[in-house]
Amino acid sequence: MFDQTSVDTGASTTSAAMPVVELLSVDKVFANGTRGLAPVDLAIQPGEFISLIGPSGCGKSTLLKLIANLIEPTDGKMQWWRGDFEKVGSPGKRLAFVFQDPTLMPWAKVDRNVCLPLELAGVPKEEAKARAATALEHVGLSAAARRYPRQLSGGMRMRVSIARALVTEPDLLLMDEPFGALDEFTRNKLDEDLVNLCHARGLTNVFVTHSIYEAVFLSTRIVVMASNPGRIFAEFRVDEPMPRDENFRRSDRFAALCRDMSALLSDASLASVIA
Ligand SMILES: Nc1ncnc2c1ncn2[C@@H]1O[C@H](COP(=O)(O)OP(=O)(O)OP(=O)(O)O)[C@@H](O)[C@H]1O
Ligand SMILES: [Mg+2]
Repeated sequence: MFDQTSVDTGASTTSAAMPVVELLSVDKVFANGTRGLAPVDLAIQPGEFISLIGPSGCGKSTLLKLIANLIEPTDGKMQWWRGDFEKVGSPGKRLAFVFQDPTLMPWAKVDRNVCLPLELAGVPKEEAKARAATALEHVGLSAAARRYPRQLSGGMRMRVSIARALVTEPDLLLMDEPFGALDEFTRNKLDEDLVNLCHARGLTNVFVTHSIYEAVFLSTRIVVMASNPGRIFAEFRVDEPMPRDENFRRSDRFAALCRDMSALLSDASLASVIA
């Protein structure tokens, strides 16, 4: 269970707050001429949990990589906290990325894996150790700190990966299908812990998923994408209270939201077919 201790980050979901990220007519054409994304406009507000969903190849990972500044737009303008990425964004400072594969160092124990971003940032060893211990506590893995990754289950390894992202105390968490390879039970549990942790800490999250259920459970807003060309097709708000739990997942309201999302996704798939 993730620790959901509330931390005042100054985050707020009011529309007057400064957007975390803004994309203005941003598009991406790759070096080989493939258009990854047609012009996209998107503003992400502090504290939002946004899921990106859409058919394979519609540009979800491309959009996430643009937000992470891992790739540059071909055209358009991007801002992070109303400024340039170099000044305000930099990874390990305000932003962290979690990939589908936990990519842990197999030869290093769990606590050392979590320390890595702090070591790279030059944080003194004792401070890094203390912060790694706190991050592991937050994801419920204190007891596994001295184990090697191979001694953990898939779900535990993913928790380590999340602890490694949280240890830098980011404001923005970017996750590309992080739980796609896990069984449904573990995935549901991690979803529940993640959304409530993000809410308690005022963390902003952009999360890529193929699962309608996961998107509805986690999100405050779902961005539905279509392909040919990759673009934003529609947006879908999930105005349900936090924290979210099994009661929400079993509710009629949840079923109705999933049905509406399913219909929207079918429309997006139809719109993705090359004419
Ligand atoms: N480095 C690259 N060079 C050329 N084309 C690329 C590159 N990365 C992605 N693309 C293309 O851009 C389009 C969008 O890819 P992207 O990976 O963003 O899709 P996606 O929505 O994440 O798909 P999936 O659901 O399968 O992960 C695809 O046509 C893909 O082939
Ligand atoms: Mg992808």
